[in-house]
Amino acid sequence: MNAPIGVIDSGVGGLTVVRELRKYLPNEPIIYIGDDARCPYGPRTAEEVLQFTLEMVSSLAEMGVKMLVIACNTATAVALDKVQSLFSFPVIGVIQPGARAAVKASSTGEVAVLGTLGTVNSRAYDQALQQLTPEAVVHSLACPEFVPIVESGEYRSAAARTIVDRTLQPLHASSFDTVILGCTHFPLLQEHIEEHFHGQKHIISSAVETVIDVDRILREQQIESSAAQLPVFYTTGSVEKFRSIVADWLSIPFPDVRSITFK
Ligand code: DGL
Repeated sequence: MNAPIGVIDSGVGGLTVVRELRKYLPNEPIIYIGDDARCPYGPRTAEEVLQFTLEMVSSLAEMGVKMLVIACNTATAVALDKVQSLFSFPVIGVIQPGARAAVKASSTGEVAVLGTLGTVNSRAYDQALQQLTPEAVVHSLACPEFVPIVESGEYRSAAARTIVDRTLQPLHASSFDTVILGCTHFPLLQEHIEEHFHGQKHIISSAVETVIDVDRILREQQIESSAAQLPVFYTTGSVEKFRSIVADWLSIPFPDVRSITFK
């Protein structure tokens, strides 16, 4: 079935999931919506995040997607159940896969979760981790400066490194062997985060584990594609800025990036 997989995020963060989708499932067409104009979702109310998510998913439903990845932890925490109940195609989020990957990686059961304010306040990772390992110890930290620096395109800069070092300081009082990047924007800062911890922690991005779920669902439902195609990206924000981040992060020199508006 050569219909596309829909991927959504508040901005460019879901590209970290697209990168893994393209690597492991290169024949799958992808349509992506990034709501950059209304990013960040992290500090917004649950009602707003739900409404914006439903707007993106409705557009993708009209475009004929065969399944959907909510490649945004904040939206997964708030909207996954609702979206699953409203649409007939399979829908997955990124929190369960991230928690599963962390449990596999950790030998102490002590995990740090870096996320947006919305994700941390939702305690969605605490619940997901404790469901998998009831004795799991979770140290959560909201990192509100990370998403804006990634959206600005300055994620490789020295300023980004300084923000990462300053933000992660409070975790030094806690013990853990695994760090979940509980926001899909954060893998763009992964080098800085790894350096901050001197390469001593397992750093988990949910992207790879999410693609394992996508692969399983496509096979179970027998809806795999056979024709390789370049992804199509829609953004509510600056097409130029989005294009340059896609070109850099996904190594697609002239990506197809289009504008979309809601309301
Ligand atoms: N990338 C998103 C996440 O995974 C949201 C970031 C934001 O908009 O605050 O949580």
